[in-house]
Amino acid sequence: MDKVTPDEIAAVIGKINPLYPAKDKSLNAELCRVLSYLDAPQVVSKTIGLMKATQTQTIAYDKEMLDRHEYGKNILKMMSNTPNSLNIHYAYSLRQVQNGWTLEDRKYYFGWLNETLEKSGGKSFSGYIRAIRKDAIDHLPAKDATAVSWLLGEIAGVDLSKLPMAKGPGVAWTVDSAMKHFNTDLKGRSFNNGKKMFAAGRCVACHRFEGSGGYSGPDLGSLGNRYSIRDILVAICEPSQSISEQYQASVVTLKDGGSVSGRIIYKNDKEIALATNPFNFADLDKSPIANVKKVEPSQISMMPPGMIFSMNKDELKDLVAYLISAGNPKHPAFDKN
Ligand code: HEC
Repeated sequence: MDKVTPDEIAAVIGKINPLYPAKDKSLNAELCRVLSYLDAPQVVSKTIGLMKATQTQTIAYDKEMLDRHEYGKNILKMMSNTPNSLNIHYAYSLRQVQNGWTLEDRKYYFGWLNETLEKSGGKSFSGYIRAIRKDAIDHLPAKDATAVSWLLGEIAGVDLSKLPMAKGPGVAWTVDSAMKHFNTDLKGRSFNNGKKMFAAGRCVACHRFEGSGGYSGPDLGSLGNRYSIRDILVAICEPSQSISEQYQASVVTLKDGGSVSGRIIYKNDKEIALATNPFNFADLDKSPIANVKKVEPSQISMMPPGMIFSMNKDELKDLVAYLISAGNPKHPAFDKN
């Protein structure tokens, strides 16, 4: 109804916050709904705690009867992979809450939604989960969006076959051989060609820049403020030299031999799912937890080396100018003289 005043909000939170969480599930569902609406400071941590503890409830059904019927078989199939419906309510309630998120909460929240998208429901199920996820992404402050960007992608990647190609001839660039071309200030570079190289080097498939691009790597929009040209070249030529923690991949060693490496998209008491292909985070490799021996951070970057090997020196210079320009065609690197 009418907008509540800050005093009223504080008074209501003061009354009902101590009651949450309660022992009763239905009560928790309502308390969560109201506290989320009021943006109560502790509703996120309490609710994420509940989401972690809530077991999927199976609905009572007659397996034998369903088994006999053609349509019943579909229902059984769905039942074998049912989502956690109470948690859907919690995720829905939290989608617009602004207060009290830690980075861990955000990771859990979006990881949970991604995991749930893999579940079966009715025909519209994934559409509703996607809508909750979209609303949550729309309400995410920019700084948090950067930190969990790899969980937000609409994960389908850029169509690699449609990307332009560099003219070349290519060079097996090293930091030193590339640096030779950056001894003097960058001048007279081409903005449009730099942008084209950002696509030709497939950077666009994994990095956001000027608001578009993929999510498996960091947003490169502010690179020019943070990095020298040498740092940029090191990041491109030797990606595994320093890996930012947020983007670090993991290696999962399996009990029955072998290992899988990639970004952990979710982990629950049954399975662990890794995105093994940085070009397509929808491609999940799942292993049963029972078969996991250990999980360790990977020392190898998910960014492949050699992404600039198809470029000649002018193309490389245009790319670097584009990166340091933060997408501004008026940057001095593009001045004609
Ligand atoms: C297949 C995905 C992928 C492609 C393609 C890719 N990158 Fe990356 N990049 C990553 C990931 C993941 C990281 C973060 C992990 C790391 O630091 O190695 C990263 C890190 C970086 C960093 C360091 C950023 C920082 O904030 O520390 C730079 C700079 C960079 N990439 C530039 C590029 C450029 C330029 C291209 C194209 C020529 C490119 N990348 C292509 C995935 C990719």
